Amino acid sequence: MKLAIISGGSRGLGLALGELYQARQWRVLEFSRSAPHPWSIAADLAQPEAARRVFAAEFAALASQPWDEIVVIANAGVLAPIGPTSRKDPAEVLANIQVNFASPIMLMTQAIAAFQALPCRKTLLNISSGAALNGYAGWSLYCAAKAGLENFVRSVAMEQSAQAWPLRAVNVSPGVIDTEMQAAIRAASADDFPAVGRFIQRKADGELRPPSRVAMAVARIADDARVAGGARVDVADYLDPTAS
Ligand SMILES: NC(=O)c1ccc[n+]([C@@H]2O[C@H](COP(=O)([O-])OP(=O)(O)OC[C@H]3O[C@@H](n4cnc5c(N)ncnc54)[C@H](OP(=O)(O)O)[C@@H]3O)[C@@H](O)[C@H]2O)c1
Repeated sequence: MKLAIISGGSRGLGLALGELYQARQWRVLEFSRSAPHPWSIAADLAQPEAARRVFAAEFAALASQPWDEIVVIANAGVLAPIGPTSRKDPAEVLANIQVNFASPIMLMTQAIAAFQALPCRKTLLNISSGAALNGYAGWSLYCAAKAGLENFVRSVAMEQSAQAWPLRAVNVSPGVIDTEMQAAIRAASADDFPAVGRFIQRKADGELRPPSRVAMAVARIADDARVAGGARVDVADYLDPTAS
């Protein structure tokens, strides 16, 4: 009996991950606002304390079951508001930080609290971004949150190394994926996002990866016992060259 927990699984990469683990006969749970799937649970990650309570309640119910493996994927993310943060509505600014930073921390820490003692293989994956390593004009909040979260995961990996049944905490860089997030990037004005032309060109050149292909690579990373806690793994190294 295996369990996959995914944030932001209503669409995009998170949906592809949910469908992949469903096809593998895993029990799947996804958290999103729209919660459109039979395996969805409604949660607004812009409200981290409310989201934490939802995670805690769900995980407490699951922790008593005899799992052979648990994979928790912090996948939900938002770019909005795109543009210089000083020009943006403070409520939107805070919502970005809650979704991209505070709530993934709540997801991962509630999973650790609930599942720490379970004697099975356990993995926490943070779906990160090149924006964790590089600044982008117009994405300052997203870049800050992704960078901070990667270092959170590295630190958690160090803490987990002392545990009898550790959760392996890993950062994953997914590359560019053909999802609504990319559509929102292409729709930004050059004033808000000066690099917009580069992203429009990538789409035109067919450089965006299908979410299902990236999901397959993410699952291979979770499967790979050679990937150590604290690692930063590039999906490009796990893509199936024969899959489209
Ligand atoms: N697409 C890319 O090229 C790319 C590149 C690098 C990294 N990434 C990362 O990959 C991950 C997945 O991105 P994606 O492209 O699949 O994005 P997407 O298509 O925009 O999907 C985002 C997901 O996050 C959920 N979400 C957003 N705000 C939420 C909120 N307040 N509460 C709960 N859930 C919320 C959405 O669900 P609801 O709207 O239903 O709530 C949706 O399921 C993100 O972490 C992103 O930063 C993507």
